[in-house]
Amino acid sequence: MRQRQFAFALASITGIGLAVAAGGNVPDAVTRRSGLTLAPMPRVAQLYASNCQGCHGESGSSAAEIPTLAGKVGYFTRIPEGRRYLVQVPNVALNANSDADVAAVLNWVLATYSRAQLPPDFKPYSASEVGELRQARIDVVASRRRIIGALVAAGQVPSAAALALPDPVALGREKFVQCAPCHGADGRSSVVPQYPKIGGQTAVYVVNALKAYRDGRRQGTYAAIMASVARPLSDADIDNLAVYVESLDTMK
Ligand code: HEC
Ligand code: HEC
Repeated sequence: MRQRQFAFALASITGIGLAVAAGGNVPDAVTRRSGLTLAPMPRVAQLYASNCQGCHGESGSSAAEIPTLAGKVGYFTRIPEGRRYLVQVPNVALNANSDADVAAVLNWVLATYSRAQLPPDFKPYSASEVGELRQARIDVVASRRRIIGALVAAGQVPSAAALALPDPVALGREKFVQCAPCHGADGRSSVVPQYPKIGGQTAVYVVNALKAYRDGRRQGTYAAIMASVARPLSDADIDNLAVYVESLDTMK
């Protein structure tokens, strides 16, 4: 998890470059010649792109263990502890931007990705509220669990499952339907001997193998089959598939 967060943090740092390039809106040769103009990206959307998108995704929908914001995050604002929690999660509380910017990006996230879940009397976060709340250090896992329990008890969320964190094994199982025809549903009933048994293989090995196929570093007649399977997979798909394959821990 620590390693994964680090990787995501890096991805969000790389995102800064992209956002600046997109937001800078300097016309390139094609834009100048064609007269095509691009509306500048609003500053608050740029803040999201450079500070949050690396983990939470362009559409507020994340992979692996990062919570999906879209269609969900607004539920938290229905009770006071939940409203506080959204400011106190580490990546928000410790964000380097000003209180006003953090308030703006949180309000933008709520309005853009989760408007339908906001309570009718929702009041946007103010800079001073953020400034005060972000001083606190909370036990994220315990707070999140307690808040979801309270939301369910108060009938403010359809079910605890609506706010469950994405489970990488479950996500991997969904993706594995495209692997089962060759490797077998259990990962070790391959249809022809040239298709290897993979069920129970360590996740690290599976990640390395899939990336090597995807990047063309593993070659040969049979590797070519896997290269076309692996090319469309994202890093998150590969991580999820790998933990699922490892969970098929029945290779004897
Ligand atoms: C390094 C990855 C990372 C970055 C960058 C990041 N987050 Fe998060 N975010 C997480 C994780 C992981 C959680 C789950 C709580 C935890 O473990 O900290 C979370 C939880 C949240 C939550 C609570 C949602 C819930 O369901 O628990 C909100 C709201 C949120 N983040 C908003 C943001 C905003 C806004 C930004 C940008 C200012 C941001 N995050 C940047 C990883 C990240
Ligand atoms: C069309 C058949 C086919 C499909 C579909 C397929 N594979 Fe494969 N897979 C193969 C073949 C053939 C090889 C052996 C390639 C080689 O010799 O390098 C292989 C090799 C692998 C290996 C390396 C095994 C080792 O011991 O090094 C992994 C891991 C793997 N596949 C995972 C997957 C995953 C995950 C999926 C689904 C996303 C998938 N495969 C879908 C045919 C397939």
